[in-house]
Amino acid sequence: MNLFNDLADFAVEEIEDLIQLAARLDQHPEPEALRGKVLSLLFLSPSLRTLASFQAAMVRLGGGAFVISPDMSIHGLESRAGIVMDGVAAEHIREAVPVIAAYGDAIGIRAFAPREDLATDLQDAEFNALRSLVDKPLINMESAINHPCQSLADWKTMDELGIPKRGKFVLSWAYHPRPLPLAVPAATLHMAAMRGMEVAVLRPPGFELPPAVMDKAHAAAAASGGSVIETDDRRQAIEGSHIIYAKSWSSTRHYGDNVADTKAREQLVDWCVDEPWFENAKPDCRFMHCLPVRRGVVVSDRILDGPRSVVIQEARNRMLAQMAVLYRMLKG
Ligand code: CP
Repeated sequence: MNLFNDLADFAVEEIEDLIQLAARLDQHPEPEALRGKVLSLLFLSPSLRTLASFQAAMVRLGGGAFVISPDMSIHGLESRAGIVMDGVAAEHIREAVPVIAAYGDAIGIRAFAPREDLATDLQDAEFNALRSLVDKPLINMESAINHPCQSLADWKTMDELGIPKRGKFVLSWAYHPRPLPLAVPAATLHMAAMRGMEVAVLRPPGFELPPAVMDKAHAAAAASGGSVIETDDRRQAIEGSHIIYAKSWSSTRHYGDNVADTKAREQLVDWCVDEPWFENAKPDCRFMHCLPVRRGVVVSDRILDGPRSVVIQEARNRMLAQMAVLYRMLKG
């Protein structure tokens, strides 16, 4: 494997193989598997789970990792093309990325989500520009429109929970004071459709997912025997569901316009997942979220602290899923 950028690049059987490998490496550790291998990690936006889990994954497999981010003691990093660098930044990303890649056997990159122009973000222009600078195996650690490591971990988590392949999965928008990227909702929707699930995207008017994201999910559902609908009817969406997966995202109607987006979401503070949401769900319906999550804003304390929540299991599976990806990428 040379590239882990999108679950859509893989067959369902290949995803299931990675999940089985992740479980095997958990039960039967291989602390020498990647001895001498180095993973370069470039973070152009903040992280807790991805930052820590990739380093832990490499250590558990006998290799090592190093992290570079603009917050560290590095020369100011410029990313604009064609710029005359007579300001603060002393290093351009066009040199920095190949240098960082040269020190490792593979590289993980977390790119910005500029959130200025929807078409640009849907094309993952920022990530693909960085990708073109790298000649090593590459992992997408979250880009403007994808988060494949999160999706692989979430698929594994649902398998562990015994959630049926044809189970009902609700991807629900939730309130957040700031407009957030589309990466997790887009990747999560596609993952659930690819797994063969009955997927409902629950969102208020103005927060419809872009047609390109929905079309990709419909294609995945057609191939897997699943289905996808989009609605603002909470009762209809949640009826009989096995999973409510909460995530906030930017208003697609006002994409790139933070003032209009903020005005639109001000009316939606009651989109905070709480126990009444589960009234007509399956009795053991679970709550999923990629984290970080704002308590009392996106979801209530009693859901996060109660038996429905599997957010810590999802986060642990990030490490295991990434161990499987690294194993396939670096061990051959
Ligand atoms: N879910 C996730 O990617 O978390 P971080 O942003 O903390 O890495």
